[in-house]
Order: sequence, then C-alpha cells, then structure tokens
Amino acid sequence: MQKFEEQKFNIGELKGISAKNIEEHLKLYAGYVKNANLIMEKMATLDSEKDAYIVGEMFRRFSFEYNGMRNHEIYFSSLSGGAKPVAEDSELKKALEGLFGSIEVFLREFKNLALTRGVGWAMLWFDNKDKRFLASWVDEQHLGQLQGCAPILAIDMWEHAYVYDYPTSEKKKYIDAFFENLNWEKVEENFKQAQ
Ligand SMILES: [Fe+2]
Repeated sequence: MQKFEEQKFNIGELKGISAKNIEEHLKLYAGYVKNANLIMEKMATLDSEKDAYIVGEMFRRFSFEYNGMRNHEIYFSSLSGGAKPVAEDSELKKALEGLFGSIEVFLREFKNLALTRGVGWAMLWFDNKDKRFLASWVDEQHLGQLQGCAPILAIDMWEHAYVYDYPTSEKKKYIDAFFENLNWEKVEENFKQAQ
C-alpha cells in the first residue's frame, strides 16, 4: 500500500515564531502523517461487516488526519525559504487586488478571519470552477474545507502553533509574525498550480 510521506521543510530563523515552537509543531505534523497511514493500514485489515462501528469511526477520523497532514504542509512550506514579499508583477497580486482592492485590504480581512474564536485554520482557496478566491474558517483540521477548491494560503490557528511564544490573549501578534515570515513565492506557486 502506498504510504503518505512526511515532508521536510527548509525553515530558517523566523521573526516572532521561535525555533522551539516550530520544532514542537513539526512533531504534531509528523503525528498526522503517522495517523493517516495508520488508519489506511487498519482499514485494510478490518472486516467492514463484523467491525462496522470501528470501520465507520475510522472513515470519520480519516479526514481529520489527512487534512491535518495536508494543511500543515501548506503552512510549513509557506514559512520555508525565507520571507519574500508578494511580487509586484505577479498574477497573484493582480488577482487579489482585483478582489480586495489592495493587498493591504486583503491582509486586514484575512487577519480578521484568523482571529475567529476557536481552534482551526484561516484559509484562502482558489475555486477553479468559478475562477475566484474564497476564504473560509476550518474548524479543527477538516470541518469547513471547501470541496474542489485548492488551498492557496493557510494559517494554523490552533494554540499549539504559538503556545511557546504568545499567550492566547495575544494571538494577534502571532498572526502578524506569520505574515512577516511568509514566503509569498510559495503562495504564488500554489496559485499557479491551482489554475
Ligand atoms: Fe498545527
């Protein structure tokens, strides 16, 4: 059976997000990869009739583990390779400006989305069917993912993403730090691939 592979990321020193927090966070990511594989393995060995309840629960849990794995890959890769600004002449910049008026307005709106109460993700998607951006709040790792849309940008708003650096009452500082460290080239890559 084909296994999910844990990705490696080239995350250097970040401003406002400690190496300790990244190190611990990467361990959690590894846990999602491990558990996504574990569910796949277990399901192959169970009798879906005899073990119907267990199998049903595994199918329910699978999207939590799988999307947890993929969301973290978007997140960590966007913090890899050093902070890079959004390219002036990029298609991404033009598209965001077309929708929000300016990058500043987009950032303000997206940061407000990230401040949603609860644990989950603020995510920007590209809906290739209607050729437009959509943003959504994803509860936990999986509730609120938009079917058929490609993730372009994802900020992890679980407390584990900033617990070593900020108290929960100061999560806004973590959001600002995330954008200070963001490698927009990765976001542009996601946008290109989505089309
Ligand atoms: Fe996380």
